[in-house]
Amino acid sequence: MAIKLLDEQTGPKISKYIYGQFSEHLGRGIYGGLYVGKNSDIPNVNGLRTDVVDALKKIHVPVLRWPGGLFADTYHWQQGIGPQKDRKKIVNTNWGGVTEDNSFGTHEYFELLRQLGADAYINANIGSGTVQEMAEWVEYMTMAGESPMANLRRQNGQQNPWSVKFFGIGNESWGGGGNMRPKYYSDVYRQYQTFLPQYDAKHPIYKVACGPNEDDYEWTDTLMKNATKYLDGISLHYYTLPTGDWDHSKGSATDFPESLWYSAMAKAQLMDRLITKHAAIMDKYDPQKNVDLIVDEWGTWYDVEKGTNPGFLYQQNSLRDALTTAITLNIFQKHADRVHMANIAQMVNVLQSMILTKDDQMVKTPTYYVFDMYQKHMDAQLVEGQGDVADRVTYTASKKDGALTVSLGNYDLTHDREVTFTYSSDYQEIAEATIITGAKMDSHNTFADPDEVVEKAFNGAKLGNGKLTIQLPAKSVVSITIK
Ligand code: AHR
Repeated sequence: MAIKLLDEQTGPKISKYIYGQFSEHLGRGIYGGLYVGKNSDIPNVNGLRTDVVDALKKIHVPVLRWPGGLFADTYHWQQGIGPQKDRKKIVNTNWGGVTEDNSFGTHEYFELLRQLGADAYINANIGSGTVQEMAEWVEYMTMAGESPMANLRRQNGQQNPWSVKFFGIGNESWGGGGNMRPKYYSDVYRQYQTFLPQYDAKHPIYKVACGPNEDDYEWTDTLMKNATKYLDGISLHYYTLPTGDWDHSKGSATDFPESLWYSAMAKAQLMDRLITKHAAIMDKYDPQKNVDLIVDEWGTWYDVEKGTNPGFLYQQNSLRDALTTAITLNIFQKHADRVHMANIAQMVNVLQSMILTKDDQMVKTPTYYVFDMYQKHMDAQLVEGQGDVADRVTYTASKKDGALTVSLGNYDLTHDREVTFTYSSDYQEIAEATIITGAKMDSHNTFADPDEVVEKAFNGAKLGNGKLTIQLPAKSVVSITIK
């Protein structure tokens, strides 16, 4: 495969928010995974696990969506403030019917963001919450001066307002978030966004409307037709199910046949078609591309691990996930002109996680290592390529500070590929080259063997005679930076 990179006429900026995360009050995503409370024996800072936060800091999480997901439309933020012992205990009706003690609330979320250095993406409750409740939450979080909610925040120990970068108005409003029809939702969105207070004129809160599920193009069309001038972004949800079967078996995360390896790759690639078609509809109403597409739920979804609560969505993560991640991130980068943010579901212990925990133990998943590897693309300029891409190969390229990074995946299970890139600038050396691969297609990390799939130095690339030549091994993700 030979590709000519157009590295002197770079494309749009690849927003760092494409590397965003999502954490919901679901299973052990927050409780146990991120938050253990100040009195836990597990080392923590203000209740947040030190081991997990340290690992996440290394991948520079740019933004964290919270508190859901479906949970968001049942969440009443007032129950999660004030002394923890007085907070209302509720039932998490979406996820396992377990008790939610509200010990992780608004203050704890912003403490997590502070420790991670991440921006806020709050999803409001419009399913069972009022306009006033939403407006008061924003007042509580962001009002600097004197006001009832700002005073309450101060009374609860937070003097200064926090900054809310992104704000979601509705989650899956076409389904579990209210079963609304698109025209009705468009009006609900218009109403709620009207009362979203903007207390910081210099940093207005970016509004995300509930966009389509997968290929629901009618939803996108209706929303754009009726609400474009009130939108900053619209969301898209799409999950990769290797079996394609929501109702019976989604398949195992680790014990699967080759056919489900390849179908996972094909399903991950569907993201390209979805974005292309939704973006074409958006172009009709918004040719200037003022409204972004925000893929705020994506990732693989398998059957839960045996013996775990089905409502907790706890799944392992293998080399297969590393490849579907590379495919998906490459697609997001290709569409950097429309896709401004994406949030993989979900950061810890739920669905396609970065990290899995068991009591005081923690393990980084193959997906974590792809996010680590791809950091070089954050806020870089997209570089387009010309040439035919080999079957079962995916690649992306970007340029930052004069350095060119190409990241590739070869999801063929047996055949290596030779890939050659040519370019215009005069690059002198390979600054960094790493690979993620494994002995088997379902190689994965466990608490007993946490380093089965990790990012390692790669020595299969050569720079010379105006080209970069890569021997790309089967079932691997590789990233090379030249400068
Ligand atoms: O990520 C798990 C769930 O998937 C979210 O709560 C919901 O929005 C989606 O259906």
